Amino acid sequence: MSEQRDCLCADLDASSVDREVRLCGWVQRRRDHGGVIFIDLRDRSGLVQVVFDPDRVDPFAIAESVRGEYVLQVLGRVRMRPEGTLNPDLPTGAIELLGLEISVLNSADPLPFPIEDPDTGEALRLRYRYLDLRSDRMQRNLRLRHQVIRALRGYLDDREFVEMETPVLTRSTPEGARDYLVPSRVHPGQFFALPQSPQLFKQLLMVSGFERYYQIARCFRDEDLRADRQPEFTQLDIEMSFVEESDIIAAMEEMVRSVFADVLSVILQDPLPRLTYAEAMQRFGTDRPDLRIPLELVDIADLMTEVEFKVFAGPATTPGSRVAVLRVPGGAALSRQQIDSYTEFVKQFGAGGLAYIKVNRIADGINGLQSPILKFLPEDVVQQVLRRCAAEDGDLLFFGADRARVVNDALGGLRIRLGHDLGLVAEGWQPLWVVEFPLLEEDSEAGRWVALHHPFTAPHPEDVPLLESDPGAVRSRAYDLVLNGTEIGGGSIRIHQSAVQQQVFAALGLDEAQAKTQFGFLLDALRFGAPPHGGIAFGIDRIVSMAAGEDSIRDVIAFPKTQKASCLLTDAPGDVDAQQMQELGLRLSGVAQAGGKATS
Ligand code: AMO
Ligand code: AMP
Repeated sequence: MSEQRDCLCADLDASSVDREVRLCGWVQRRRDHGGVIFIDLRDRSGLVQVVFDPDRVDPFAIAESVRGEYVLQVLGRVRMRPEGTLNPDLPTGAIELLGLEISVLNSADPLPFPIEDPDTGEALRLRYRYLDLRSDRMQRNLRLRHQVIRALRGYLDDREFVEMETPVLTRSTPEGARDYLVPSRVHPGQFFALPQSPQLFKQLLMVSGFERYYQIARCFRDEDLRADRQPEFTQLDIEMSFVEESDIIAAMEEMVRSVFADVLSVILQDPLPRLTYAEAMQRFGTDRPDLRIPLELVDIADLMTEVEFKVFAGPATTPGSRVAVLRVPGGAALSRQQIDSYTEFVKQFGAGGLAYIKVNRIADGINGLQSPILKFLPEDVVQQVLRRCAAEDGDLLFFGADRARVVNDALGGLRIRLGHDLGLVAEGWQPLWVVEFPLLEEDSEAGRWVALHHPFTAPHPEDVPLLESDPGAVRSRAYDLVLNGTEIGGGSIRIHQSAVQQQVFAALGLDEAQAKTQFGFLLDALRFGAPPHGGIAFGIDRIVSMAAGEDSIRDVIAFPKTQKASCLLTDAPGDVDAQQMQELGLRLSGVAQAGGKATS
């Protein structure tokens, strides 16, 4: 198969017995067994055991000298393993190679950590990522990533989508995060932005008449990082012309279903369920509900308007607020201490507390209930609450009363936490589309409207007149694909008329001059026969990490950044020399100098 080797380690089996083969690979393990040396040799295909007998003096001496992760070339003869030494866990476990010749292609220093050790800290793994990537787990994850991308490409290629590249040095494309900026040497004082997504370019490609575009695109966002967020990540980015929401949803659903079936042998529901944004918020407190958890929020504000308990009556009578219950089947068994810890948990979302009622025995009326708030609530109101959420003996009801956002975050978060703590998360895959998002949301700190998706998302045609009078009520033509509580994709029908785009910019507080400076090229393009178009982008890292059963997308990215957006392998970002700074016309302020990274 090459000048250096004849076949791969794991290609050998009982049918290879008596063959003489040359293999190359790494020393996975070397054992001394009473004068005989065993080396597990590893290449990309797997492992094979090589045996060196002391009577072959030269190869034996070399075999004795090698250590873990040495790189070897071995000539050997395949033979059956002796009776009783077969290893059924290894694909090549029925045979072994009798080592006849061995050469050390390279030695290896003692490793900073054992490659397959699951307890190695992530910092060490990332610093020596090339070693970490030798592990079975990482090899599997990155090969799975390749398969997913290949399947997606194949699917789209077969359907006349054209793969195109778009610039990485560009202008800001607002997706809601901070930009990474690149100073221009040629234009001192001016900056490129790295794309948060290829959004505007793919729209321009529709204006150009390509009609069907895709790209495996790197995107850059300077935002707070989490397990499912990296500063640079990969999207499958797609755009289509002459389509409505339902066309894109149907096409993408088929693609996702086909890739799950081909790569993971998972059959997803057909069709996938759809929820409106409003319903998702109401039932689950979030726009990316994890449908594997069978708990739901139930509204009770209408029952609480006149109770003396101000904690409930206040929000019940205040617009923009919410009073809701989360019923936990079997939750009456929770201890005081557990309830206290959930109360602490919801406080991180701004909740003032976490009222509860333990439902011990409904037949006993109010005496069958247990709660610090019963004394504040009329019995008939309590009974109506029980009925509305279909409470049963043994349940616990948790209450949230506050501004709607706080209640949604608190009870929505609690729902997920309880689902995991109480083992209520169902097995399998629960995808859904969330549709009819609001176009805009209020940034209360800045006191202005911002786009919920991005400023190029089309408003629902019926709601365009509301852009000025009631911006918060305008529905958009956006959709998200959610899988097991993670947003794996999002997109929309776009604005294809310059005038509407200008109206939306105005609603976002951009005056005509600002809109022209920032997005003049788009407004121009929309005036030269832009077709109706729309698209979507999927988070490849998220899809692959879920498919691989990993909690963090870092485990499916070859060279990821840490939570602090640095690369421990190359020690990026790093200082640059004075000369470079001067050429760029840049000088560090005192703050930046003091805030620089420690160089340890
Ligand atoms: P959006 O911002 O929703 O849409 O991004 C699309 C998908 O990309 C993934 N994603 C991320 N993955 C890892 N790290 C991140 N920091 C990160 N941010 C987003 C998510 C998300 O669903 N231009 C639009 C798409 C469109 O309208 O066509 C866009 O970028 O899985
Ligand atoms: P208090 O009268 O403040 O002692 O609250 C009585 C109960 O209501 C306690 O169990 C609190 O945890 C709970 N509580 C307080 N504020 C809220 C809130 N905003 N939403 C839900 N429960 C709350």
